[in-house]
Amino acid sequence: MHLSTTITLLSGLAVTLAIPHPPTQHKDLDWKPCDLDFPPSIQQQIPGPIDCATLDVPLDYTNKSSERLQLQLIKVNATQQPSDGRVVFAPGGPGNSGVEEVAKLGRVYESILGGRYDIVGFDPRGTGRTIPFSCVPSNATTKRSAPAHDNNTIPQVDSWSLLQNKAWQEGSVFSQLCYETQKVTGRFLSTAFVARDLLAISEAINPDGLLRFWGRSYGTMLGQTFAALFPDRVERMVLDSVVLASDYYSGQWISSTRDTTRSLEHYFQECVEAGPSICPLANFSGPDTTPADLMQALYAALEDVRAQNLTLSADYPALPWWQSGEGLPVLLELKYGIFAQLYRPDQYGAVFLTINDTLHGNFTRLTSLTIEDTLANAPTEEPWSRGSNAFHGVACLDSSFRASNVEGLYNTVQAQLRGGGDYADAFSTQLWPCAQWKFEAAERYEGAFRDIKTRHPVLFVNSPYDPITPLGGAFEAATAFPGSRVLVHRGHGHGSNNHPSLCTLRAIGDYFREGTLPDVGTECEPGRNGWELIDEAVRNEGIVTIQEEVRDEEEREMLQKVYDAAVAALVKAL
Ligand SMILES: *[C@@H]1O[C@H](CO)[C@@H](O)[C@H](O)[C@H]1NC(C)=O
Ligand SMILES: *[C@@H]1O[C@H](CO)[C@@H](O)[C@H](O)[C@H]1NC(C)=O
Ligand SMILES: *[C@@H]1O[C@H](CO)[C@@H](O)[C@H](O)[C@H]1NC(C)=O
Ligand SMILES: *[C@@H]1O[C@H](CO)[C@@H](O)[C@H](O)[C@H]1NC(C)=O
Ligand SMILES: *[C@@H]1O[C@H](CO)[C@@H](O)[C@H](O)[C@H]1NC(C)=O
Ligand SMILES: *[C@@H]1O[C@H](CO)[C@@H](O)[C@H](O)[C@H]1NC(C)=O
Ligand SMILES: *[C@@H]1O[C@H](CO)[C@@H](O)[C@H](O)[C@H]1NC(C)=O
Ligand SMILES: *[C@@H]1O[C@H](CO)[C@@H](O)[C@H](O)[C@H]1NC(C)=O
Repeated sequence: MHLSTTITLLSGLAVTLAIPHPPTQHKDLDWKPCDLDFPPSIQQQIPGPIDCATLDVPLDYTNKSSERLQLQLIKVNATQQPSDGRVVFAPGGPGNSGVEEVAKLGRVYESILGGRYDIVGFDPRGTGRTIPFSCVPSNATTKRSAPAHDNNTIPQVDSWSLLQNKAWQEGSVFSQLCYETQKVTGRFLSTAFVARDLLAISEAINPDGLLRFWGRSYGTMLGQTFAALFPDRVERMVLDSVVLASDYYSGQWISSTRDTTRSLEHYFQECVEAGPSICPLANFSGPDTTPADLMQALYAALEDVRAQNLTLSADYPALPWWQSGEGLPVLLELKYGIFAQLYRPDQYGAVFLTINDTLHGNFTRLTSLTIEDTLANAPTEEPWSRGSNAFHGVACLDSSFRASNVEGLYNTVQAQLRGGGDYADAFSTQLWPCAQWKFEAAERYEGAFRDIKTRHPVLFVNSPYDPITPLGGAFEAATAFPGSRVLVHRGHGHGSNNHPSLCTLRAIGDYFREGTLPDVGTECEPGRNGWELIDEAVRNEGIVTIQEEVRDEEEREMLQKVYDAAVAALVKAL
């Protein structure tokens, strides 16, 4: 295995960079009512007035005379004014826009924190409008712009053949295209730089210069990186659905799919509990159907798919980095579909359709998808987030792994398949193009992630039924932060708000307001079964009735907002 000779390991640089001090005289940013060109579909989802400001930061922190970058910030006011401080919310990806998320959901987060904190969002580098990373010339609607254990008991894609025969070559085309379109700024997107942006934001928005932070998914990687670089600046930090730093920065992501099978089992468990009137699969083998029956039936059906060696055609709208759908295994797309749809209960119906198709051996839904139809049905509005390839723009830049030929990826593929559980084959293809990435980060921070003594302890939150950030990873990440705590949120999926639990919401609210951590070993149950939740929302025109025993009217309103957000996508589709 040869490493590319162009690799320069810059991780040591981080500690040598000067750490800015908080300004002695704090002057708030110039907040004004937002005038952003959100597309109509987002505009409709913004529940009230919001303020905007920009913040000037260097494009390149390693260069004293660097060009400047204007970070777009957005703020939802606390209902109580003056507020107790400002909390920065960072969404996942990497690649999702914090401006867009806070515009839509800032009011919900403000409410969870008891109306006492302003919520601030920003577009991390590569996303939204902050040097957006997109490997297609702007406006062009090219064909591609459409949207653990060793003993695998589920049929596996022949990943190594796929890589040799298709993925290596297409990854090479993709990384070259990205290099050509993003040459000027493509090396300034690393999470280390975004962490420095976050420091500048903290100093600009809070008189004490301290960070109050709530990150989800990739946002947890940003949070951990900030905490490692600036531990004495961490006043509050909630990390929900936790990415493991060693796995992320190595570019291997081996542990990420470790609990996908558990997430699927939980999906079946909730199905059987909800019963056949809500989940048709609950009667799959008669009224006594068990989750194990469903797992077995699905595995047998996937085995048929594998044996038939079905592949897709050039016209299939594959994920953006593939250059063509030609030769993609149907097995890969089915497993990827199940995996990706397990993220949230509001996609339970989509998981059902994929599984039902698989059980019936009917792949019309998948094979009839075409690029032409996808483009014809795509929204015509200009999206806020222009960083259509920001996932790779950020994740590949942060990854230290490069290979100069396909053999150089053999160990990676084996490690992913043998260490990543039954769905590693479905997800890990996403990372393969990173091995041929042509950018080297201006700064890459890779740790050490150990013994990080933050000013205030970090609160980690994770579900045991999370298909992409396993609970074990949250505990492992927490070992690097003495005094931190992991709250087990027993709702389904990736992101604790997707399957609400009043217990989890209270723990997060108390942590921000009082600084308190839940007791060691605390586990929070969701308010109700995920199937029953979506069934009620669909039957009741989007209205979820609060059954929980709330403390007061304010808490009832908060919970209502969280439920409304959890089912909003379903309601829109009605
Ligand atoms: C937010 O609060 C500030 C005062 O802290 C006020 O000047 C501003 O108008 C408020 N913005 C909105 C959108 O209500
Ligand atoms: C630093 O930034 C300036 C201004 O953009 C540029 O001219 C110069 O080449 C940069 N230096 C390095 C080492 O990148
Ligand atoms: C992008 O689209 C806009 C609006 O459709 C158009 O005015 C503009 O010329 C396009 N730019 C390019 C580079 O095609
Ligand atoms: C692998 O799993 C199969 C099916 O669950 C089981 O029969 C077998 O004993 C397992 N093998 C090992 C080495 O764990
Ligand atoms: C369950 O399936 C059986 C056939 O296996 C059928 O007779 C029965 O009516 C079904 N029950 C429900 C509630 O759909
Ligand atoms: C499966 O199909 C691919 C592409 O059509 C072919 O290269 C491969 O040999 C086939 N494998 C089997 C086991 O039939
Ligand atoms: C399940 O799939 C079969 C075969 O495609 C179809 O006939 C049936 O209607 C599907 N069931 C539901 C509930 O959608
Ligand atoms: C296969 O599924 C499609 C929906 O994707 C459905 O329209 C069709 O009727 C199904 N075919 C059979 C034979 O059930």
